[in-house]
Amino acid sequence: EAAAKRIITFCPELDQVLGGGIASGQITEFCGVPGVGKTQLGIQLAVDVQIPEAFGGLAGSAVYIDTEGSFMVERAVEIADACCRHLQRSAANSGDQAKQQSASALSRDSMLANIHYFRVRDHVEQLAALQTLPNFLQQHPQVRLIVIDSITFHFRQDFQDMALRTRILAQMAQQLMQLAEDRDVAVVLMNQVTTKISGDDQTRLVPALGDSWAHAATSRVILFWQDQTRCAFIYKSPYLPARTAQFHITPEGVRG
Ligand code: GTP
Repeated sequence: EAAAKRIITFCPELDQVLGGGIASGQITEFCGVPGVGKTQLGIQLAVDVQIPEAFGGLAGSAVYIDTEGSFMVERAVEIADACCRHLQRSAANSGDQAKQQSASALSRDSMLANIHYFRVRDHVEQLAALQTLPNFLQQHPQVRLIVIDSITFHFRQDFQDMALRTRILAQMAQQLMQLAEDRDVAVVLMNQVTTKISGDDQTRLVPALGDSWAHAATSRVILFWQDQTRCAFIYKSPYLPARTAQFHITPEGVRG
């Protein structure tokens, strides 16, 4: 896993606990309460995946599957602008020609064009979108990231038939893992949490969607509040230690 290509973020501490960034070829799931920043992080990653190779990035593009309608173009513009500014400044200061060339090619418009946006309004559309992805990725080989924000939404609202839900979730998990592995893309899933009171009266945040879904992602990260600060905790991973990173949401986007 250490050899996986990774999407670097503007949050060094987060990159560090993730083993160097968001891994390609794997599924990373972020779980957290409303407002903790899942959508902000999703938009940020769709920009971060485009960071040029001269800066240690993947120079890729992103597929963004929006199930909640929470993606905001104005916010993506802000985050893309901030990323361009940051890289152009850093290139100018470095005197590195490769950096200067790749940074000057970046623009808000190219960054937005490299976010392939799909809005899915119910679980049937969600499944249909996943079915089209293998073809889409074949036609768009630059795609290095798939974000689904959130995986949960249509399965909490519509679902009475739990057996069907379990079957669909298992199928989605398998499709997503196959996409991640076959095309070496990073799959990032946003999930909600439920609050459980444990035996010692402590409240614990538990990812939604139940026990069988718990195996869907390679790594699970819980986003939570500690006092006034946002934190990301490695909750489950076959290779990452259980560490916590702090992050902030600023006008520029998600930062360390
Ligand atoms: P749900 O979608 O409700 O589950 O929440 P979420 O975890 O996706 O939260 P989201 O990413 O929407 O984060 C919401 C928080 O991000 C807000 O409370 C703000 O603190 C911050 N935020 C959202 N938009 C902006 C923005 O344009 N500028 C800044 N500085 N912060 C923002």
